[in-house]
Amino acid sequence: MYSLNQTQFSELAKIIYDFSRIHLSEKKKPLVISRLSKRIRKLGLANFSEYLSLIRSAGPESDEFTEMINSISTNYSHFFRESYHFDFLVSHYLTPLKQEGSNPLCIWSAAASTGQEVYSLLICLEEFKRIKNPHLRYQLYASDISSKVLNTASSGLYKIEETQKISKEYLKTYFLRGKGSYENQFKVKNQYIKQIKFFKFNLNSTQYDVPPMDIVFLRNALIYFDRPTKQQIINRLYDILPPEGLLFLGHSESLAGISSKFKLVGRTIYKKVV
Ligand SMILES: C[S@@+](CC[C@H](N)C(=O)[O-])C[C@H]1O[C@@H](n2cnc3c(N)ncnc32)[C@H](O)[C@@H]1O
Repeated sequence: MYSLNQTQFSELAKIIYDFSRIHLSEKKKPLVISRLSKRIRKLGLANFSEYLSLIRSAGPESDEFTEMINSISTNYSHFFRESYHFDFLVSHYLTPLKQEGSNPLCIWSAAASTGQEVYSLLICLEEFKRIKNPHLRYQLYASDISSKVLNTASSGLYKIEETQKISKEYLKTYFLRGKGSYENQFKVKNQYIKQIKFFKFNLNSTQYDVPPMDIVFLRNALIYFDRPTKQQIINRLYDILPPEGLLFLGHSESLAGISSKFKLVGRTIYKKVV
């Protein structure tokens, strides 16, 4: 591990904050040292001073900047995380939904990480179609700031241990069991992966240039941002959602202290009112 002095930590934290709005407090210093030391070693650099010079000169469009963001972001996720959200979606939104016209229902997993959230949504929607309404039309979107996690998400490949929350029946319907060198893995069937549009997206962008969305899952990401950043993200999500559109946050997140016209309608579930 390499040593990181206070000035270097503050500079790195500022560079990362300016780009992603991920706030790295003093408590995160060991994490930064451990994750970025791996990059320094891999690049054959001598210390954090050289690493900072590289980041300064390469800039946010460079591969190493992307690697740095990939290394710093916390990507933990699992299938059917906060399962009450999926129950709410079925009983309070999909069941009463009357689809008119040709527009599909659009749902965006906006900090998708390695994809477990969007595949849980896919299974939920497909099961709803199979059991309740074969005419349901939907489009799923999944984005993240980290290209690394998005690559995992769009590969649809998961270790057996990661699929424990998925029933045997769903595994059989939506996944293929790996063989040979993939023996301990499950892969989402291609026909389902194709139903999701994956794209890299920074929630800190000033323009949310995304297709019209009806529902946004932004779970376990707001927690990393400070209040002004949260406020900006919530304002932008409010603007892109239609009246009655839903916003799902993570279990330890809320809009307390944020000014918005979202109304709490379930456990960390908000509805846009106008
Ligand atoms: C803990 S994961 C959440 C995964 C999933 N939503 C869930 O609840 O299981 C947080 C994700 O937020 C992403 N993230 C952090 N800052 C971001 C930003 N500025 N724009 C987009 N995604 C960001 C990280 O890369 C990470 O994959």
